Amino acid sequence: MTLLDGKQTAAKIREEVALRVRALQRLGRTVGLAVVLVGDDPASAIYVRNKARACEEVGIRSVVYTRPAQAMEGEIAALLDALAADSSVDGILLQLPLPAGLNADALLAHIPPEKDVDAFGAYHLGALVRGERSMVACTPLGVMELLHRYQIGIAGRHAVVVGRSVIVGKPMALLLLNADATVTVCHSKTRDLRAECLRADIIVSAVGHAGLIGADMVKEGAVVIDVGMNRVNGKLCGDVDFAAVAPKCSYITPVPGGVGPMTVAMLLQNVCSCAEGNLTRK
Ligand code: GUN
Repeated sequence: MTLLDGKQTAAKIREEVALRVRALQRLGRTVGLAVVLVGDDPASAIYVRNKARACEEVGIRSVVYTRPAQAMEGEIAALLDALAADSSVDGILLQLPLPAGLNADALLAHIPPEKDVDAFGAYHLGALVRGERSMVACTPLGVMELLHRYQIGIAGRHAVVVGRSVIVGKPMALLLLNADATVTVCHSKTRDLRAECLRADIIVSAVGHAGLIGADMVKEGAVVIDVGMNRVNGKLCGDVDFAAVAPKCSYITPVPGGVGPMTVAMLLQNVCSCAEGNLTRK
């Protein structure tokens, strides 16, 4: 069993991004990310702090706009519109989830495709469905990058994606399909999750349910990617029962230190790609 070391891989990617950021700087362009954080969800605050710190490390200028949970939707929309019009901002990230009462889809529509670093909008998701080169959501892109850098073959293999969110499950399934895997997407109404997972050469679990994937659900030699981020008794763990599943796997991601650091690295990469795209447009 080989551990897929997201921490080390992400560090390498951050170095690559830092070189690209420096090249843009030499052209007189400072790469900029605007992060909008609404409300006081503690997990979101930690994620945003980590993203801002990672930006700083590679030379990306990040500005975090915090707004109270009671903020009006129109106020957030106006902020996103102003950031969309600001030429010093290359990428805009609206941290999710939003407080109750705010419509995430309506607000995400205020982020133009050329600044949509999360790629949650219809333009980039549509491109992904069409198999076109485009911006891809950071977490599924990080999973693909991890598979690629460990030279794990995808074509012709049976991949099972557990979870169908717009943020992870759906783009993940499309990326694997575009890489010629045979893909099954499982969700809360799937009748026999165990039977589906047992057929998988590659399992990607993105549900947010600790212990969901047990050893009895994993085929000998499978690749297991754990996107789950759960807190159990104050300890961070994924969806996979790591201790029981790991001995059966050819490759497996730990939590923490697997997909999480890759997500942040892919965000930096996406911001950089937006800046490079914006450069040619101006
Ligand atoms: N909430 C959880 N993951 C993410 C992410 O990747 N981007 C944003 N904007 N919000 C999130």
